[in-house]
Amino acid sequence: MTENKLAIIVLAAGQGTRMKSRLPKVLHPISGRPLVGHVLTAASRLGAEHIEVVVRHDRDRVVDVLAKQYPDATIVDQDDVPGTGRAVEVAIDAIPDFDGDVLVLSGDCPLADAETLATFIAEHRAADAAATLMTAVVDEPAGYGRVIRDAEGDVDRIVEQKDATADEAAVAEINAGMYVFRASALREHLPTIGVDNAQGEKYLTDVPALLRRAGQKVAASVVKDVTVTFGVNDRAQLAEVGRLLNARIVRRWQLEGVTIIDPATTWIDDDAKLAPDVTLFPNTYIAGATVVAAGAQIGPDTSLVDCEVGEDAVIRRTDATLAVIGTKTNVGPFAYIRPGTVLADGGKIGTFVETKNSQIGAGSKVPHLSYIGDTTIGERANIGAGAITANYDDLVKHRTEIGDEVHTGSHNVFVAPVRIGDGAKTGAGAVVRKDIPAGALALSVAPQRNVEGWVEKNRAGTGAAEAASRAGRATE
Ligand code: UD1
Ligand code: CA
Repeated sequence: MTENKLAIIVLAAGQGTRMKSRLPKVLHPISGRPLVGHVLTAASRLGAEHIEVVVRHDRDRVVDVLAKQYPDATIVDQDDVPGTGRAVEVAIDAIPDFDGDVLVLSGDCPLADAETLATFIAEHRAADAAATLMTAVVDEPAGYGRVIRDAEGDVDRIVEQKDATADEAAVAEINAGMYVFRASALREHLPTIGVDNAQGEKYLTDVPALLRRAGQKVAASVVKDVTVTFGVNDRAQLAEVGRLLNARIVRRWQLEGVTIIDPATTWIDDDAKLAPDVTLFPNTYIAGATVVAAGAQIGPDTSLVDCEVGEDAVIRRTDATLAVIGTKTNVGPFAYIRPGTVLADGGKIGTFVETKNSQIGAGSKVPHLSYIGDTTIGERANIGAGAITANYDDLVKHRTEIGDEVHTGSHNVFVAPVRIGDGAKTGAGAVVRKDIPAGALALSVAPQRNVEGWVEKNRAGTGAAEAASRAGRATE
């Protein structure tokens, strides 16, 4: 008879000393989620009755993130007794009525996906063991607990690196730190574990040996893909594990029909969504909850954070956050698109243009060298090169409203609050301080006055004067 109830305990109480960080280790992000978030995402797919996260170090910060992002997890506080054994003990004590299988995971091992874990649980159930360890045979076992097997090849015990003899340290099979236990096995043996070891901690890794002494079966599941066991203890491992996770996400989207020119320099957060026939060029970062529709071309050198991108949009060398970029739009190169920008279908935000909290209507274009902030632009308008919406009067921000089919001259300043009516036009260099009625032409620059012969008179002997005099002769 297999037991089908499942509880999951995620260990996240350790200090993470080797990270040398102000941020608790399990909150360091990769692929747009904290490390512990990846573990909880996988855990949430396994149909568990309980998911508990054990916390202690920097408890409030960890709890704060968990409460906001993973509200289904129950928080369990570890007391002053240190060690993974104690962490699991407080968690199992917090669910006194639970009787089933207990999957133990580490908050710093984010590469074990739901499928791997489901297989692991199934193997435990098939083996009908009191405990099953996930193990891996690795080239460099240093730092991990070693799996010591008996003459029959069965798991006998785990020895921590710091307690291992030279012979034990030479064993290449490591304890991945992921286990399935029968709840009863934990309840029986955890209270008996002491702290008589190199680290003065209650080791969870002592449980398998105790089960063996009690005549119970301990199974091992040796994973083929050792990367699923990789944990993060320092920043080098953070980058390596981050790279592996990204490679997985990139591959997943490639198989869904996304062209990714350079997987090594393309970073896609776990929550992002890409449609088939999207093309991502090198050095592109698709972050947060960004959603990209079919046929869009993004990059090179582009970062999109929490953006919505429409079909067939083309976005080159752009930095955009919390923006909606419509269908068949054209963005960049070198655009800086800040939160609240909405570019409607067929619109353009061009070269060296910054936008913020602005709606740019369908077919409207802001092609060059402009700042558009707190602005509404209607449809099919064209904003001349070098336009600035002066939205800030030193105290508050004001809006600029530009109607449909408006064409503005180059180098205009729109001093908000100001409205430009439908179809209006402005001259080059205009400083627009007053509303412009629909259909009007606004000019604010004084008429040009040419002082003939000024250069030859005042700059005699210079190259400019000579050039002017030659031009004079030529036109005579
Ligand atoms: C642990 C295992 C080791 C295994 C390795 C796999 C033990 C004693 N050792 O070592 O055999 O090879 O994982 O990655 O279990 N934690 C708590 N409370 C504590 C201490 C730790 O919740 O009092 C949490 C940590 O936050 C972490 C996890 O348990 O998420 C593992 O702790 P860590 O100190 O990283 O153990 P390792 O030395 O990696
Ligand atoms: Ca670890």
